[in-house]
Amino acid sequence: MVMKQLAALAGVVALALALLEPAAAAGLKFSSNDLKSEKLLWRLYERWGKRYNVARKPAEKLRRFATFNETAHRVASRVQVAGQAPGLNIFADVTNEEFSRNFLCHMTTEQRNLTARPPRRGGNGTLPLPVSVNWRNKTCEGQPCLGPVKFMGSCGSCWAFAATGALESHRAIAGANYDDPVLLSEQELVDCDPRSKGCKGGLAVNAFQYVMKNGLATSTSYPYTGVGNGTCHANTTTRASLIMRGFERLPPHDKFQLLSAVTYGPVAVSIAVTTQDDITDFMDYDGGMYRGKCGTTCNHAMLLVGYGADYYILKNSYGRYWGDEGYLFLPRDRNCGMLNRGGSYPLMGQA
Ligand SMILES: *[C@@H]1O[C@H](CO)[C@@H](O)[C@H](O)[C@H]1NC(C)=O
Ligand SMILES: *[C@@H]1O[C@H](CO)[C@@H](O)[C@H](O)[C@H]1NC(C)=O
Ligand SMILES: *[C@@H]1O[C@H](CO)[C@@H](O)[C@H](O)[C@H]1NC(C)=O
Ligand SMILES: *[C@@H]1O[C@H](CO)[C@@H](O)[C@H](O)[C@H]1NC(C)=O
Ligand SMILES: *[C@@H]1O[C@H](CO)[C@@H](O)[C@H](O)[C@H]1NC(C)=O
Ligand SMILES: *[C@@H]1O[C@H](CO)[C@@H](O)[C@H](O)[C@H]1NC(C)=O
Repeated sequence: MVMKQLAALAGVVALALALLEPAAAAGLKFSSNDLKSEKLLWRLYERWGKRYNVARKPAEKLRRFATFNETAHRVASRVQVAGQAPGLNIFADVTNEEFSRNFLCHMTTEQRNLTARPPRRGGNGTLPLPVSVNWRNKTCEGQPCLGPVKFMGSCGSCWAFAATGALESHRAIAGANYDDPVLLSEQELVDCDPRSKGCKGGLAVNAFQYVMKNGLATSTSYPYTGVGNGTCHANTTTRASLIMRGFERLPPHDKFQLLSAVTYGPVAVSIAVTTQDDITDFMDYDGGMYRGKCGTTCNHAMLLVGYGADYYILKNSYGRYWGDEGYLFLPRDRNCGMLNRGGSYPLMGQA
């Protein structure tokens, strides 16, 4: 089982490294012509493999071709409705069952007794907020305010990525990236955070509590393996220069507080991205406004990095070959359960 996971991950890690290279826009565009014969479909599958640097063994490729065909047809008929050009992301030859087993993330129960701090902007929902906020295209001291989009692999560690994403960006916004940009270790959170369950799920607020107490390694000194076996190596790592003085938790069902918080920096949120019976909308997402179904139970964590008049911008942990270079545009009128739990974010700097 572990071997199988490791083998799967070897591909994922190779991919994750490739993801740091500057890449063309997400989504392999195709047309209905590509679906007209089996030969053309194979050609499209080859093109897809090249584009995303996915090398499958011949037998596996043959098996996955059927799934790829299914995805291509599904995507083509979906966008026909929406009137967009169809595009295939990195999950195009992954089955629904594999996706649901490997790429979602169980949110553990929230500890209600953490001390919530008063929101910074205050007000009662009538104070004016900026029309739009987008940390994705901002720079902090000449560096990007957000760390790169990462790939969580087949480990339910989305909560750890939401937490490091929040920490990396709040650290940058606080000015600490000036001569020392830092990427943080998700693997330490997976292995060492006693309140979360490693690859079986967790919560960003738990991770913030852990980091306040223990600090956190850089991702180079404690690299991501996407396997959690309960062995914590934190004490042999290089610790990142990171000073947290606390974290804030936002109340659930309060859109104003959420938007208000995003004006100060990204917020880790839980979200219900898939329904029980259909996960393909989220799995196939290739950019543009998300028109797919939402569920009711939070099964993913992401980082809210901005909003526009009618959408939210979220940073995911599926690499850059999913969505809009790794990001999701979610309509604000159907936020996929994002307000069901309050988001959370770290407060940087000395108390
Ligand atoms: C591809 O999928 C379509 C639609 O499900 C099906 O009609 C067709 O036979 C499939 N083609 C191949 C080569 O599997
Ligand atoms: C509150 O949290 C602490 C540790 O974080 C725990 O020991 C305690 O049992 C919790 N209390 C309640 C009432 O949940
Ligand atoms: C909200 O706060 C503003 C400014 O403090 C005040 O003028 C307004 O009456 C308040 N609105 C409500 C609904 O409480
Ligand atoms: C940055 O994002 C804002 C809000 O989404 C957008 O209006 C603006 O055009 C973007 N700027 C660049 C340089 O992409
Ligand atoms: C967990 O993995 C580490 C290295 O990845 C290894 O050194 C350790 O022995 C493993 N522990 C168990 C309990 O499998
Ligand atoms: C790290 O922690 C382990 C177990 O807690 C301990 O056995 C080991 O000596 C520690 N290593 C260092 C370098 O402190």
